[in-house]
Parts: sequence; C-alpha cells; structure tokens
Amino acid sequence: MAILFHESTKTFHLYNEQISYIFTVLKNDHLGQLYFGKRLRDRADFSHLLEFTPRPMAACTFEGDLSFSLEHIRQEYPIFGTGDIRYPAFSMERPNGSRIYDFTYQSHQITSGKPRLEGLPATYTESADEADTITITLYDQVTDVQLLLTYTIFRDVSAIARSVRFICGKESAKLLQALSLCLDLPDDNYELLELIGTWSRERQVKFRPLESGVTSIHSMRGCSSSVYNPFIALKRPETTEGHGEVYGFSFVYSGNFLAQAEVDTFHTTRVLMGIHPQNFSVALQPGECFQTPECIMVYSEDGLNGMSQQYHTLYRTRLARGYWRDRPRPILINNWEATYFNFNEEKILEIAEKAKALSIELFVLDDGWFGKRNNDTTSLGDWFSNLEKLPSGVEGLAKKITDMGLKFGLWFEPEMVNKDSEMYRTHPDWVLGDPERNHCHGRNQYILDFSRKEVVDNLYDQMCKVLDCGHISYIKWDMNRSMSEVYAIGCPPEKQGTVMHNYILGVYDLYERLRTRYPELLFESCSSGGARFDPGLLYYAPQAWTSDNTDAAERLKIQYGTSMVYPISSIGAHVSAVPNHQTGRISPIETRANTAYFGTFGYELNVNTLTEEDQQKIKAQVAFMKENRALFQFGTFYRLQSPFTHEAAAWMVVSEDQKTALVGYYKPHAPANEPYERIRLMGLDPNLCYRVSLNDTLCGGDELMQYGLITSEHAVKSPDLNTVLGGDYRSRLYRLTAVE
Ligand code: GLA
Repeated sequence: MAILFHESTKTFHLYNEQISYIFTVLKNDHLGQLYFGKRLRDRADFSHLLEFTPRPMAACTFEGDLSFSLEHIRQEYPIFGTGDIRYPAFSMERPNGSRIYDFTYQSHQITSGKPRLEGLPATYTESADEADTITITLYDQVTDVQLLLTYTIFRDVSAIARSVRFICGKESAKLLQALSLCLDLPDDNYELLELIGTWSRERQVKFRPLESGVTSIHSMRGCSSSVYNPFIALKRPETTEGHGEVYGFSFVYSGNFLAQAEVDTFHTTRVLMGIHPQNFSVALQPGECFQTPECIMVYSEDGLNGMSQQYHTLYRTRLARGYWRDRPRPILINNWEATYFNFNEEKILEIAEKAKALSIELFVLDDGWFGKRNNDTTSLGDWFSNLEKLPSGVEGLAKKITDMGLKFGLWFEPEMVNKDSEMYRTHPDWVLGDPERNHCHGRNQYILDFSRKEVVDNLYDQMCKVLDCGHISYIKWDMNRSMSEVYAIGCPPEKQGTVMHNYILGVYDLYERLRTRYPELLFESCSSGGARFDPGLLYYAPQAWTSDNTDAAERLKIQYGTSMVYPISSIGAHVSAVPNHQTGRISPIETRANTAYFGTFGYELNVNTLTEEDQQKIKAQVAFMKENRALFQFGTFYRLQSPFTHEAAAWMVVSEDQKTALVGYYKPHAPANEPYERIRLMGLDPNLCYRVSLNDTLCGGDELMQYGLITSEHAVKSPDLNTVLGGDYRSRLYRLTAVE
C-alpha cells in the first residue's frame, strides 16, 4: 500500500495489492480523475487517460483552446461556475450572491494511518501501517476559502475512504451543498444496485440499468431510512454474486443523503454521494469549518460477494468499536411480540425464568416500562419506571433478572416525546416544528430537537439515572418516525439549514457519551425495525434490529439485501411466534431459526406459551448457536442463491482457515415433482476434502464449488435438529468439515 506523488506530472497514485486510484492536477490546476479499479503498475504519467476531444458547444476554459472543457473532463470534486455543467459536488454562496468559486491545487500532505473525523463516525486504523491518507488543499484566491479533500487507502481491503472539509476564508459564505464524494467513470455500461423498501420490507435488492440522465436515491426524512439505504453499487451487466466488476459506494452517516449516477451524452458516468442538499445550508463565518461525513468506495472484480466481503471486513473490524466488536453476541429474548405493552413484573419474570432454563443469555425489556406507557400515545420523554407495572422499578426487575444469571437489556427511544408526558408539558419548545403551524405526528409522537445541547443533556441525565443501577448491559435504541416539519425554535434563521445535520450530530454525541460512561454496554440500534440501518450507527452500536418483520420467508430477503453491505455480526435476527405477527404465515420453528442464525440471534416470543416440544427445540437451538456463533458472526459470508430470483435461496459462512463451513438452504414454496438440484458453493479450499453433514458424503472443495452441493431432497440421509423436509418453508443447514 502506498500513496505516490509524481512531481513531474503532478499525478497521485493511491494503491494497495488490489486497487489503484489515480488523479492528477490539470493544466487549470483543478483535479482530474484518471482511474479507479484493479491495481495498475505505477507510472509517472497517466495523463493520456484523459480525453481532450474538442466538442461543439462546450464551455472552454482557455481562450483559443477548444479541447479543454471541464464539462468533458473527469474531475475529482466539481463545482458550478468553472465550465462544468453536470451535477456539481458542492455549491457555496458569497455575501454578494455569487456562487462562482474557483478552487485550484495548492498543496498536499501524505500521512500514515487515518486521522479521526471529529464528532462524526468514521472508519479508523489501529496502527499507522494499516492505511495511508492524503489530504489535498484546494484554494480559492478571491475568497481565501480552502477546500480539503481527504482520501485514505487501506492496506488490507480494496476500499478508499473520502471526505471533504471546507474552511471559510476572509469573508462569510453559505454552503448550500457539500457532498462527500464525486467519482467520474469513463463509461456507462453499468447496472445500479440499490436497497429499497419500507417498514417491514427493508433493503430489498433491486437492479436497474443506468440510462442517460440521472438515476438517484435519497433520504430527506432525517434518518437514513428504510425506503433507500445509503448505499449504491455499479456493477457490469454480466457481474454475478461470484464474478465480475463492481464499485460500491456507502455513506457513513445516519441522516439525509443523496446517492446518484449521472450518465451524460458521451456515455461517461458521474457518481455523487453525500448529505442531501435539500434543507441543508451552513452559514460559515471567516475561519469556520464544515466537515462532511465520509464515504467508502470499494472496487471488486470478484462479484457482489467480493464487494460485500470488503465492506464486512472494514465495517466489522474498523468501523464498529469497543468491547463487543470482536465478541460473539449474547443470545437474547425480547418481550415485545410476547407482551407488547401488556406486562407486569410477574409476567416478565416468568418469561425470564423460562428463558434462563432454555439457556438464553440476555433478557431485553422492550417498550412500555416507563412513565405511564400502556400504549403508544403517552410517556415518551419520561424515562423513569412505571411503578404500577414494575413495583420495584426497572432497577429492581433488572436485579431480579441478573440474579437469575441472565443479563438484562432495556429499550429506549430517546429522540422522541409524546404530548402526554411530563417532558412535553415542561418543555414544549423542545419539539421540532414551526410553532405557528401544524405538527404532523408519527405513531402519536413528536421529535425532540437533538440539535440543542440542553435536550441531549437532559436525555443523557435521564438515561444515566436508569443505567447507573448497574444491572443493565444492553440498550435497544429505537427511533420510530421520520422528520416532517423541521424548524428549531430558538435557532437563528441563518442556522436553520443546519438543524437536520446537527440533530444527527446530537444523536452521535449522546451515543458517544453513553459509550464512554458505560464501555461494556451493548447497543443495538433500531428504527421501526431497520429504518436507520446504516454505517454511521455501526460506529456506536455494533448491531442493529434489521426489521420488525420476523417472518422467515420475508426475513430471507431482508437479510440477503442487508448483507450486501453490513456484516452478519450487525444483523439482529430473532425467532418469533407463529402465525407470524406481520404476515400471518406459519413456518416451522427450525426454518425460523435457520434464518436467524445468520445474524445476532435471539427470540421474540413468549416461551411459556409454546409446546414442550418447541421449548426443547429452542433449548437445542440455543446450544447449537452457542457452539457455532463465532463462525456465523465472524466467518466469511457468501450469498449463493438469491431469494429474489430463485425458488431455493442459499448462503454460507466459511471459517478463516476454510476448514469449516455452514450452508443455509431455504425453499419457501414446494413445487411438485421437483427437479434435480445442486448449489455451487464458494470460499472453500479446492484442495481439501469435506464431510458434508445431512448427505453423509465426502466431497472435494473443488467439486462442491464446481459441480455443487446436491440439495435435491432425496440426497438428505441424516436429517438433524435444523432440518425441515417437504412442504413449504423447508430449510436445512449443512455443515462442511474438512477431513485430514
Ligand atoms: C419499534 C421497534 C420494535 C419495538 C417497538 C416498540 O417498532 O422496531 O422492535 O421495539 O418499536 O414500540
């Protein structure tokens, strides 16, 4: 890994063993993009990769020279007002109303490691030799504004982190758009992969070909959202899960975002990603700065799995932090679907006792334990125990449960308030919205203005009062509505445009303060299921509740899509009761578990109402997961067959030494007279021989990857506790063990 600067051609080359990223200083001193992709041998001069074809109608920079037009040159960080009339990466306004700036290369600095982004989540290094970073300073002579572009290349992953910093010069300025990344690619032969959805159908995999014009996704709702995830990939049409070129773009942020690809009439593609410019502006005084969040670009020639594995490695080991980062996650039971709001201490203790008997490790008390919260119209904001339900308080209950030998976890929704609450009655002005106008509610709740420090301080104090009891080792941090009317009472007019961003910084601040005070607390983020499942929150919470939809067949799709970017150790996945509360479907308990094993495993049901047989099955599942969770959560994950396109879906995890693997196989609908079936595996050692459970066979790794694992049902000779044969919603888990 290195970052080279060739003085003679003013060319920068960032590379590691897999990738190269090359750009240069153009003759107008702007930065021109030359190449991003598979590693190239270094050379001093790559300037021939730029094309200077004179184009009629182009806006040309130099008098008498028709070949140099920024409209047609690939750039690093384009702006309106210098000849480029495609979508810009940023926009700024001077006090005289002009939006024309001209940033030229001034200097650069190369350092080992990766500097922190103050107040923002970001990937990091643990030693200086894991990455190199270059910061290029661009400068606008007229206003003295500096623009710092930072790039970090990692040694062990084919990823580059990018972010931008604006430093205001001698006059004030208004930043109207400040994206984190622009990448101009020389052709448009791509399909765009996006993860779309809604509540209970998060992160569905969708491909669409790039067309002329703009293809984009976004969130303007204050959270990264379940509608679109802050991620896109551009893949070649022929790229599959296992082969072919793909570029991934992932935004390490939890608020509004824009991700778009613009194809021009000359078939070049411009990718842009960053904070959405809608409802965004930053008033900067001389000397003040604005730092954008970072984007992570990945290049892989090993298909979508290749891309995902790069994200998994980076996000699991160098974005997630702290005590739980490398630890297998506790198997939990959550009472939400077991009781909803309708519980008391006795009922909770009964569930916890049974859970303990089944060897579950963590009991999580969900919504309803505080204020007068017996339904969703009341008490958000009042984070003290509901003594009618819990006579010894949540603290007393937590102690009783920890005394049983279980850990105890608790639900909070710190960012929200109900009008029926002590908090709202005391601080009605803490709610976001214009006091002269109607405020929409979502789930009967309103949004606290987390851009205000006193609001965050209040929540911190309230939460610490509960957590200080010392019996709480897990928090589920929920957030159950989108922002609609964004106006912060008391905030000066010129700062209103920064409220949505400062709100997210307030969320990060509260997380950071709690993490610092309780370093061993395990956070699981949540947002009506998975509406804020993004890299930003992974920095604070190493796992996230993936979806309120716990139906096994639906979960297959949701988890399949989520795995495009996010590591298995971050994917909260529970076995719930049947008929499923979201779909009404009845699927076998084995299939529900076979899906949930590929995540941070748990249960979300009342164990006491299950049959003795199901209770025994749960006991066996818990024991099985304990034995295998390190492999599930930290092994290398491969998607094999997509539930979006195949009747039978499959995925697998492989241990680091490639000696053990677990293959999950799922068939939601049973056809009659089924065809022969095999699934080609991935990631095995071709030279090893594996014992395949269920089929009782010995197979070469090469054979399993080339011919495939035979999944026709007649091949199953020894079903085990995870096997469901015949009928709808069948599933199996194959274990592959290398034999010496
Ligand atoms: C959200 C979460 C659920 C549950 C409820 C409680 O919908 O996604 O898991 O915690 O809130 O109100």
